[in-house]
Amino acid sequence: MAIRKIGVSFIVLVIVSIRCGHSAFTPADSYLIDCGSLTNTTIGDRVFVADVSLSSTLTPASNNLANTSSSSVPSSYGTALFQNARVFTVPSSYSFQIKAPGRHFVRLYFFPFVYGSYDLTAANFSVSTQDVVLLRDFQPQAKSAIVKEFSLTITLDTLILTFVPSGSTSLAFVSAIEVVSVPDELIVDTAKIVNPQGKYQGLSGQLLETVYRINMGGPKVLPNDDTLWRTWDTDQEFLLDSQLSRSVNFSGNINHMPGGATEETAPDIVYSTATELAASSNTSNARFNVTWQFNVDANSDYLIRVHLCDIVSKAAGDLLFDVYINTWLAAGDLDLSSMTLQSLATPVFIDYVLEADHASDRLSVSIGPSTLLDVLPNGIMNGLEIMKINGSAGSATVITPLGSKKNFVIILVPIVGAIVVAVVAIILCLVLRKRKLAKQYSKTWVPFSINGLTSHSTGSRTSNGTAFTIGQNGNLSYRLPFVVLQEATNNFDENWVIGVGGFGKVYKGVLRDETKVAVKRGNPKSQQGLNEFHTEIELLSRLRHRHLVSLIGYCDEKNEMILVYEYMEKGTLKSHLYGSNLPSLGWKQRLEICIGSARGLHYLHTGQAKAVIHRDVKSANILLNENLLAKVADFGLSKTGPELDQTHVSTAVKGSFGYLDPEYFRRQQLTEKSDVYSFGVVLLEVLCARPVIDPTLPREMVNLAEWGMKWQKRGELEQIVDSRIAESIRPDSLRKFGETIEKCLADSGVERPSMGDVLWNLEYVLQLQEADSSSMSEVDSINRITEISPLVQNISTSDTTPVREVGTSVLNDLSDVSMSKVFSQLIKSEGR
Ligand SMILES: *[C@@H]1O[C@H](CO)[C@@H](O)[C@H](O)[C@H]1NC(C)=O
Ligand SMILES: *[C@@H]1O[C@H](CO)[C@@H](O)[C@H](O)[C@H]1NC(C)=O
Ligand SMILES: *[C@@H]1O[C@H](CO)[C@@H](O)[C@H](O)[C@H]1NC(C)=O
Ligand SMILES: *[C@@H]1O[C@H](CO)[C@@H](O)[C@H](O)[C@H]1NC(C)=O
Ligand SMILES: *[C@@H]1O[C@H](CO)[C@@H](O)[C@H](O)[C@H]1NC(C)=O
Ligand SMILES: *[C@@H]1O[C@H](CO)[C@@H](O)[C@H](O)[C@H]1NC(C)=O
Ligand SMILES: *[C@@H]1O[C@H](CO)[C@@H](O)[C@H](O)[C@H]1NC(C)=O
Repeated sequence: MAIRKIGVSFIVLVIVSIRCGHSAFTPADSYLIDCGSLTNTTIGDRVFVADVSLSSTLTPASNNLANTSSSSVPSSYGTALFQNARVFTVPSSYSFQIKAPGRHFVRLYFFPFVYGSYDLTAANFSVSTQDVVLLRDFQPQAKSAIVKEFSLTITLDTLILTFVPSGSTSLAFVSAIEVVSVPDELIVDTAKIVNPQGKYQGLSGQLLETVYRINMGGPKVLPNDDTLWRTWDTDQEFLLDSQLSRSVNFSGNINHMPGGATEETAPDIVYSTATELAASSNTSNARFNVTWQFNVDANSDYLIRVHLCDIVSKAAGDLLFDVYINTWLAAGDLDLSSMTLQSLATPVFIDYVLEADHASDRLSVSIGPSTLLDVLPNGIMNGLEIMKINGSAGSATVITPLGSKKNFVIILVPIVGAIVVAVVAIILCLVLRKRKLAKQYSKTWVPFSINGLTSHSTGSRTSNGTAFTIGQNGNLSYRLPFVVLQEATNNFDENWVIGVGGFGKVYKGVLRDETKVAVKRGNPKSQQGLNEFHTEIELLSRLRHRHLVSLIGYCDEKNEMILVYEYMEKGTLKSHLYGSNLPSLGWKQRLEICIGSARGLHYLHTGQAKAVIHRDVKSANILLNENLLAKVADFGLSKTGPELDQTHVSTAVKGSFGYLDPEYFRRQQLTEKSDVYSFGVVLLEVLCARPVIDPTLPREMVNLAEWGMKWQKRGELEQIVDSRIAESIRPDSLRKFGETIEKCLADSGVERPSMGDVLWNLEYVLQLQEADSSSMSEVDSINRITEISPLVQNISTSDTTPVREVGTSVLNDLSDVSMSKVFSQLIKSEGR
């Protein structure tokens, strides 16, 4: 069969337009073609060039141009682009010189109409590039304009778009074409797999077809108002029940942060509007989900990008909510502020992949309130993109221009048989590969075993209820029967809750022998929690120290994940500093608490063969017993899941903001010195008795570490000391304390002292405080010495305890964020 080919070689028409209102991303390649038109068409600030003016090699216009006078093209793009079309009765292609290989948007515009003998409403055709089929047997019958957007990575120096009518009687057409460069970072390589949870890798090479792009709670965004000329639709028509939600419109500025979403990720108008749960400010009566539902093709993988920006909270940490995809929990107790260094109105996005095995022809995305008790029920979503992965992979028909720019004839060899064989082979390959991938995931995820405690899956954990020991050297941790804990906590009485976090709730409990305990009950839904759970049992049963909160037992019956700790009567150090009615602590009490916690941390760093890095040192993780003895808590877990070896989105460095080591944040390399930094912030907090981040204060005061260092560097730290203790601090003691803080907060880790040095310095601060009043403090010092000696012993004896390596890299999968609130991760630094 001889066919005619249109070789359109475009002289590049890169229109570098500085567009007002945008931080202009300038695409290296930008082809805007108004197909079948005799005149250029200007849309907003972009000029779509008439394809007749681009090449002298077109077939006679009358043969393949079509136009309509219909001025009522139903389209939000305006009618101009849709009133002309180029019609193909034989396979034909456009080729584009690509200057900058990488990710590009290819947008194809269609509007079917009847023109003479051409009935475009009956068109049936495929469109492909050299590698992939973009549209297969596509029939744009709809009486409205259609824009198909694809995002693909182009590696060759030419992109060839081929239009192939399906069958000999059908025809193909196109109204306009865009081929535009996109920042490569727009699509990150990895995403979270929704179910079963896991990591999807290799997105950056994939063809993506945009199926929905939604601006929640806001107006439709047209290409000229978008940083990458995308269109964002409104969400109203997708809401299952619009009564349950309301729109939010934010008038302040959107604060972009490095590592978060950029202006190219989505325009500010997307982030400054949102749909939120229509909960009243009334606490209890808003326990419902808001759901958006979309029609999709089953049998395809989808990339679901959720755009989030907390424009509703008054303070960081106020907003915690759940995100579901279909019925699966995608993010539980999501705390945006912990992804954004506590700043509000900072945009982030999270990518999920829903695999074809789980797709049906309805895809729903929901937000729902956190089930935690101490947060108001709310939830928001700012934007949503749903992209089909490998839109329609398969064998592509490519009509390659054969050198000549003139009309020419190419022969399509009848190789249909060969093509069929190839297609079958490719499909088989894909299927097999996918199975294999799926297997790998289940292999790496499910079984988990720690000396003798083996579990195969959440469903089959052993539950014989007999107690046995784990750990060595007499470090006993017992498996406790569930009924015992039910009894101890008055059947998990909500009134006995003493704390809540991402992992679950913490209850006060009393065992039969009158031992008071803290019972942390994990959310059984979380598979990742299971891994953390086992790791925490293993590690905690080996780390024993007077200044570390110890594990008494655990329960894994009936899919429960319960950890039982010693009860710390006086609660957190933080609650004794501010925000409660507890009596103020004196300077000496505060110093002793600091010294105790420093000992606990020093033991973590040096007491084992490999250093253990706490990662979430803060005043809320320092607990006090009835004698105000400080113990470090929540030195949770390292995960062993496969998603650990790499970062996901560049957000989520772990830890708590305000305490977070800026060097760790910058370099993402964790050392013990990050704990030292955080501890320096705790010391300041102890001195000043105010929150480490307080957004209600004037700007320069918001961050305690900055504010404190400013005064320390001026030598006037006394100006900001908690007024309740200011009188009693001796100047020498304060000076030394300030110097210690300053060293801990040094910019670079190598300049910071070790925890051992910090401990020594704090002891010295205490001596300076007591120096003059030695006569009255003899008793105290003796007490102190007796306190120290058993500890020294403790450190040296436990040196021999072997510790299993638990994964050396840290990582920042967003799901960790909420988890880390209760279970900070415990990391053994490499190379020690
Ligand atoms: C369309 O614009 C291109 C580039 O700006 C120009 O070369 C061409 O002459 C224009 N064509 C018409 C028909 O105005
Ligand atoms: C359609 O194109 C023909 C020439 O090909 C022209 O004479 C006619 O005016 C055009 N009609 C419209 C509505 O643009
Ligand atoms: C479009 O073409 C394909 C391939 O020839 C055919 O299988 C399909 O039925 C056609 N669709 C319509 C609506 O004619
Ligand atoms: C948001 O509020 C501004 C003024 O406060 C208004 O101009 C704008 O139209 C509003 N946007 C939406 C989507 O309601
Ligand atoms: C909470 O809602 C209930 C019922 O809707 C209402 O009676 C009560 O006054 C509300 N409380 C507050 C503080 O708004
Ligand atoms: C929200 O939807 C999820 C998934 O369907 C469900 O498990 C959860 O219970 C719902 N939450 C509320 C408050 O209805
Ligand atoms: C998508 O297509 C690319 C190349 O076209 C291929 O390498 C990849 O395996 C495909 N992925 C899926 C999930 O089909």
